Amino acid sequence: MTPVMTKVEKPSKLSVNDLIEDRDLSRGDLKLIFEVAQRVKASPGSFARALEGRQLAMIFEKPSLRTRAAFEVGMTSMGGSAVYLDHTKPRLGEREPIKDVARCLERWVHGIVARTFAHSAVKELAEHASIPVINALTDLFHPCQVLGDFFTLREKFGSLEGLKLAYVGDGNNVCHSLLVTGARLGVSVSVSTPPGFEPKAEIVDAATSISRETGATIQTVRDPVKAVAGSSAVYTDVWASMGQEYAAHLRKQVFATYQVTETLMAAAEPYAVFMHCLPAHRGQEVTSAVIDSPRSMIFDQAENRLHVQKALLLLLLQNGSV
Ligand code: CP
Ligand code: NVA
Repeated sequence: MTPVMTKVEKPSKLSVNDLIEDRDLSRGDLKLIFEVAQRVKASPGSFARALEGRQLAMIFEKPSLRTRAAFEVGMTSMGGSAVYLDHTKPRLGEREPIKDVARCLERWVHGIVARTFAHSAVKELAEHASIPVINALTDLFHPCQVLGDFFTLREKFGSLEGLKLAYVGDGNNVCHSLLVTGARLGVSVSVSTPPGFEPKAEIVDAATSISRETGATIQTVRDPVKAVAGSSAVYTDVWASMGQEYAAHLRKQVFATYQVTETLMAAAEPYAVFMHCLPAHRGQEVTSAVIDSPRSMIFDQAENRLHVQKALLLLLLQNGSV
């Protein structure tokens, strides 16, 4: 019988107490998260009591399937529990100051996961809470997503160093996280967007400066074919993110030539995979033929959200015993 472990061996710990944005994670942090995720995935039963007695608060201002389910299942499958706090209305900070929310939650739970519109809201929570805060998506970054994505690519290709990922579509939160974490991991990232929808210059600059240390290349181009040339992975996301639904009609026209089709996939490496964070709008940013093709890794990405988020919970919530 496999012994039930209550603690993960202590290889080292993360350099951060919170996960607010991708820029905060070092290469060592990324390596550690992937190593723990790999162990959790290989032997989930060994961690069945690792978070016994630990509680997590999950604040969501926006809808979620994957992030919420993976955190809740992650906590309960390791002996802990999670409480969902619906903040779609009113939003965080509207009923009472964010610092008061932080100070109440820290009396009841061991960690906070938060999905907000304003990135500053998650930062403010972390500033005032003495317990770890994890960004579950803001308008600026989606770190949990891309940790799962690069873990998926690492499983597929064995090593990440030297790979090229092409991102085609809107220069949004997912694109920002891919740029920064890709650069840190030595993965070249080439982004193709319509004019006016580029990733923020500040984030591209940060990724470029990180890439100088890792040998990756960070590139923004107009032509999707140029972006995908030589790439091992082609990634896209919705054209209108949560909160931008009002502009969906206009965006459909602007982004029409940025759809990931079989023809565009053919411009990548012959072994290239297709990736999407989901939810997807088939027939808009990607055709059904591509998303349902054998190249598509979308459900592996979704599965790995669980393993990676379990690793984050272990590393951040286990009170120094990881
Ligand atoms: N990809 C992702 O974060 O999905 P949810 O919005 O469903 O959590
Ligand atoms: N860019 C998308 C990602 C959803 C997981 C959004 O913010 O809605």
